[in-house]
Amino acid sequence: MAGILILYATIEGHTARVAERIAKGLRDKGYRVDLHRADPAGASLDLAGYEGVIVGASVHYGRHPGHLRALLRKHRAALAARRSAFFSVSLSARHKPAAAQRYVRKFLRRAGWQPQQAQTFAGALPYSKYPAWKRLLMLAFVGLAGGDTDMSRDYEYTDWDGVDRFADAFARPLDAI
Ligand SMILES: Cc1cc2nc3c(=O)[nH]c(=O)nc-3n(C[C@H](O)[C@H](O)[C@H](O)COP(=O)(O)O)c2cc1C
Repeated sequence: MAGILILYATIEGHTARVAERIAKGLRDKGYRVDLHRADPAGASLDLAGYEGVIVGASVHYGRHPGHLRALLRKHRAALAARRSAFFSVSLSARHKPAAAQRYVRKFLRRAGWQPQQAQTFAGALPYSKYPAWKRLLMLAFVGLAGGDTDMSRDYEYTDWDGVDRFADAFARPLDAI
């Protein structure tokens, strides 16, 4: 069975959960899956030995991480030679889908990468896990967007069935390899 690398960047940890869910789904189908967190300190990336690459990242302050974009740009030839997919995790994916798509288009354009799949997933709003300054900042952001402002609880908006469908769609063409 083909080997798949899942590379992800997360700040508060939710993108890691999405990446783990994708990894589990693919492993259950028999694929060899490696899960790697992209290191902001400038990690190396070796795509040899992988037939497929899935990259995931969350949006903060209107953008995906610059360190991940730079890493993908550096490896764009190797990415172009493989089946690849990108998923983006944000609150916009729930409240402002057009904005979420725009973040993705800009990130991919600047990375010089055209994956076969690009998907946005609604993320999480874990008020209880934020330090006080972040909780207030998020309350302001989310309140302006008309979202959930009850800070006594955490929210998770991810469509896990949608995540499973994304993984299935990625794997289908690899089945023949
Ligand atoms: C400080 C901060 C800024 C954020 N900025 C945005 C934003 O500009 N647009 C957006 O759609 N979501 C934004 N979010 C929401 C995150 O994308 C969402 O919580 C996501 O689940 C975080 O994923 P992670 O835990 O993998 O980092 C922000 C969240 C935080 C805490």
